[in-house]
Amino acid sequence: MNMKKKWWHDKVAYQIYPKSFYDTNGDGIGDIPGIIEKLDYLKDLGIDIIWLSPVYLSPLADQGYDIADYYKIDPRFGTMEDMDRLINEAKKRDMYILMDLVANHCSDEHEWFQKAIADPEGPYGQYFYLADAKDGRPCNWRSYFGGPCWDELPGTDKLYLHLFHKKQPDLNWENPKVREEIFQNINWWLDKGLGGFRIDAIINIKKALPFHDYPSDRSDGLCSVSNMLKESQGIGDFLQEMKNRTFDKYDAFTVGEVFDAKPEELVDFIGENGHFSTMFDFSTTCFGKSPKGWYDCQQITPEDYKACCFSSQRKVQDIGFLANVIENHDEPRGVSHYIPEGDVNDTSKKMLATVTLMLRGIPFLYQGQELGMENMPFESIEDINDVNTLDEYKTAKAAGLSDEAALKAVLRYSRDNARTPMQWSDQPSAGFTSGTPWLKVNPNYTRINAASQIHDENSVFSYYKALISLRKNPLYKDTLVYGQTVPYLESQKNLMAFFRKGEKQSLLILANFQNEPQEVLLPEENYQILINNCPQLEQQEHSLKLQGYQAVVLALGV
Ligand code: GLC
Ligand code: CA
Repeated sequence: MNMKKKWWHDKVAYQIYPKSFYDTNGDGIGDIPGIIEKLDYLKDLGIDIIWLSPVYLSPLADQGYDIADYYKIDPRFGTMEDMDRLINEAKKRDMYILMDLVANHCSDEHEWFQKAIADPEGPYGQYFYLADAKDGRPCNWRSYFGGPCWDELPGTDKLYLHLFHKKQPDLNWENPKVREEIFQNINWWLDKGLGGFRIDAIINIKKALPFHDYPSDRSDGLCSVSNMLKESQGIGDFLQEMKNRTFDKYDAFTVGEVFDAKPEELVDFIGENGHFSTMFDFSTTCFGKSPKGWYDCQQITPEDYKACCFSSQRKVQDIGFLANVIENHDEPRGVSHYIPEGDVNDTSKKMLATVTLMLRGIPFLYQGQELGMENMPFESIEDINDVNTLDEYKTAKAAGLSDEAALKAVLRYSRDNARTPMQWSDQPSAGFTSGTPWLKVNPNYTRINAASQIHDENSVFSYYKALISLRKNPLYKDTLVYGQTVPYLESQKNLMAFFRKGEKQSLLILANFQNEPQEVLLPEENYQILINNCPQLEQQEHSLKLQGYQAVVLALGV
């Protein structure tokens, strides 16, 4: 496929969850100066683009995804001077900073919402979705974090809409003034020299109006918002307007958090003139999700994982690029989620890394992934901070699960698994803070930490570094960035194998997604081993015998 080349196609991105990254002033909360201190660490790993989860002024009801002022930095994270310094320090290292654009909703503490409360009939009332309380709730949608989407607008006879937490009122994108405010803010940040944005929850901005009920899907009488998203039409007009008014003028990079996109709209989203540069591939993270809640989710197997990845690759490779992830701040740790229990070790972690970094797409690593950080062994629901997990726990209990079973079920998916502090060293609090960390550190930090891995050539960190540098090696880069993904021996169980076919070259990636060895027939007798996650490789005349979780990258025909 002939694709117009863009500056971000060959980049590797990294998500920072600032609150848990690195604390420099001992208050137990990660901060922007902490990110600046670690830029060289990221540069050394091979990172080009850094996405910061929100650092704007916020009551942190949803950890910063509830913004009270889009033009201010929350003092817990630092100052605007810190932010400017971060952008400049990144630039000096040829790195780009992305902020999180949270524009579906703001915080209930934002001045717009406060003005709407003071005068619901005035101009700010129209910044939100309000309804007369006397008529009852306009629809039976269930908020993503539980309970009805409508709540009383304090001290008034109105209700307001919130698809997420009640402290996250939805902004009314139908109002041109709201769009204008958002575009102005985006440009203000891009003028500062940002590389672009990660775009939060964006699919929700277009509501199917007028509000109406859908069949309820749980005993609470409410229904999932996804019913509405399926029906809503015309989001493209908003997104195209946003792009034309903002990103395009700066050649900015954008990555959309898009769930529930309609397959026929893929071109509109990430095609050559699409709304975004790319969007996350959530096919594996969403696999097995149940409308009933987390307690009812189906565990993903290696075969499912393969099917999800290949299906996504096939869908987009003639259209554009997806952004590949195994985890983020809303998901459990990838190694704990995708590798069967009991098999999680350095070899299997490296196998998963090989697959995700060698697929076609723009890789996004999440902080700690490069160290092989694992899920947190939370002992009680009291240790959980995340609003989503607390709600899912309630749902599981309401469905009849015991305390213990409900806890076990939600811990598998809890967003707090990935939000525990970054493990820098084996010092107290994993070297994350000199104070008390806001969320408990994973007790495995004495075993899994950056300090012990950076100089160990067999570490997970060094392996990630090798994969990233392979992606950037001028000999293979074009193939790894633009080459087609062609599945190989697709029906061989627990084998994830694929070619990356470039114009002049073919690479073959073989990953044994199980603990038992397996034999893999080779398509070609001449090859060179570029990457191997095990000390040896058993080579036979026409095949390879891969050890449990062994993964290799081969250059064919050489
Ligand atoms: C996105 C964020 C998530 C947040 C939600 C509401 O899904 O990734 O953390 O809770 O949007 O802003
Ligand atoms: Ca701090």
